[in-house]
Amino acid sequence: MASILQAVPEWVHALPLGVKIAAVVVGLPVLVILLNVLSQVVLPKDPSLPPVVFHYIPWFGSAAYYGMDPYKFMFECRDKYGDVFTFILLGRRMTVALGPKGNNLSLGGKSTHVSAEDAYTHLTTPVFGKGVVYDCPNDMLMQQKKFIKHGLTTEALQSYAELMVKEARAFFANNLKVTKASGPVKIDALHTMADLVVLSASRTLQGKEVRDSMSTHFAKLLEDLDKGFTPLNFMFPNLPLPSYRRRDRAQKEMSDFYLSIMEKRRTGEHDHEHDMISALQGSVYRNGVPLTDRDIAHMMIAILMAGQHTSSATSSWFLLHLAHNPELADKLYAEQVEHFGNPDGTFRDMTFEETKTLPLMDACIRETLRLHAPIHSIYRLVKQDIAVPPSLSAPSESQTYVIPKGHFIVAAPGVSQMDPKIWDNSTEWNPARWFEDGGVAKTANEQYQAGEKVDYGFGVVSKGTESPYQPFGAGRHRCVGEQFAYLQLTVLVAEIIRTYKLKLVADEFPKTNYQTMIVLPLDPYITIERR
Ligand code: HEM
Repeated sequence: MASILQAVPEWVHALPLGVKIAAVVVGLPVLVILLNVLSQVVLPKDPSLPPVVFHYIPWFGSAAYYGMDPYKFMFECRDKYGDVFTFILLGRRMTVALGPKGNNLSLGGKSTHVSAEDAYTHLTTPVFGKGVVYDCPNDMLMQQKKFIKHGLTTEALQSYAELMVKEARAFFANNLKVTKASGPVKIDALHTMADLVVLSASRTLQGKEVRDSMSTHFAKLLEDLDKGFTPLNFMFPNLPLPSYRRRDRAQKEMSDFYLSIMEKRRTGEHDHEHDMISALQGSVYRNGVPLTDRDIAHMMIAILMAGQHTSSATSSWFLLHLAHNPELADKLYAEQVEHFGNPDGTFRDMTFEETKTLPLMDACIRETLRLHAPIHSIYRLVKQDIAVPPSLSAPSESQTYVIPKGHFIVAAPGVSQMDPKIWDNSTEWNPARWFEDGGVAKTANEQYQAGEKVDYGFGVVSKGTESPYQPFGAGRHRCVGEQFAYLQLTVLVAEIIRTYKLKLVADEFPKTNYQTMIVLPLDPYITIERR
């Protein structure tokens, strides 16, 4: 140390202390950045590793660029580096593998090679609770998904359609209060749909008791849990912040609330219907171990969280597009009149089976999910080196990459879903594309729904990893809530379109907010006017 100080020129010693401190404070980061840049430009690269996205600040890496607009980032990186590349995200090495083949590496990977549990547990376990989903071995999660599927029988879904309609109508009457006399009223489409989604999900899946407490304490608990489910929580699982403490308190209280429901049902104090709690009670793992009440409580929280933001984001994007395309909204209204209109201008309720017979509604939902996949990046932790097939390794097919153990592998189905190389006018919301016989959309959907079949432990499903359209994920972690989500989206949007005319408030279509865990619209304001 002394010899270093001796080597410093005399004039440096003569500088005032403030100047010396300023020089270190400014100079050191500049030096670090310079070394980081040099190491990327000058040092030889390991040809077996995917290229690393150029970045100035070590550790921080591409966090700002990726965080602000992940799709722009990924499309630009694809142009520069090919379908497989690594970027630095706050110290983590994230290797993106794009396209259906890339998705197949992560979403279709073996659970011994890629792990969702290790990628997500620090975010989800404090919110859902212990022992379920990503806080247990993958094989147990697969069985939990089977139990959830058993709770989503056709019989249950049939009973839900009617309950959802009732919830929507009560919500319009009590909350929206839009009459012929009131004229158009401005609403926030995202908040409105979030309220409608949680009310209808709580009245159906979650059960009557949860619905009854929605107007009181439960909503506050949900809000606190929600605030513990942000990108900050993903990056830093345990910070000494009030939001983290509120998250933990809310998790405990919500879990206890579900326990009390089960206890009261057991003692006959509450009767119950076809809800998920009753379906999960009595479920037994293959090894003979039954789900405990606590497990069920935590699964109920997971189900609530899994469906809430995905469905409210999708339905609000859907409404915004309808408000932006009045002609299409009229056609959607005509479809309702054709199928369900009474001679006196009122509508009859639709059944679960009938929700599946509406071609335009179906195309609109598919198109909305194509353009606004609620989850832009799906992460897995790499547990064993993954060999990237030659067809995915840029720049030449003879050069193959390995994604090393310890990297995160990132799938971004939304990139394929908006890829201009695959879809005509890829960024345009155009439900008509789903009617084109032999078109990309129909083919992609067939691949998604009817491709290679696999049973990962929750019933036979289409693997779906090779399709460029994967709104509900693919492989072993594929969504089990798809049917419920379609039912909910169809019923809620149909009720809205039967009742109101929609118009966008701003001239421009809302931009996208990528700063939340789920891709949401910014300034999602529309006016609604009674028909
Ligand atoms: C998994 C999307 C609604 C329950 C997934 C995945 C996606 C997804 C992309 C895969 C995640 C991954 O691979 O890491 C959606 C969309 C929805 C929706 C777009 C609505 C529009 C629902 C609903 C439920 C639900 C309503 C509950 C009833 C689940 C469950 C998983 C899952 C249990 C499995 C997680 C895993 O295996 O790791 N969903 N979801 N989802 N979703 Fe959904």
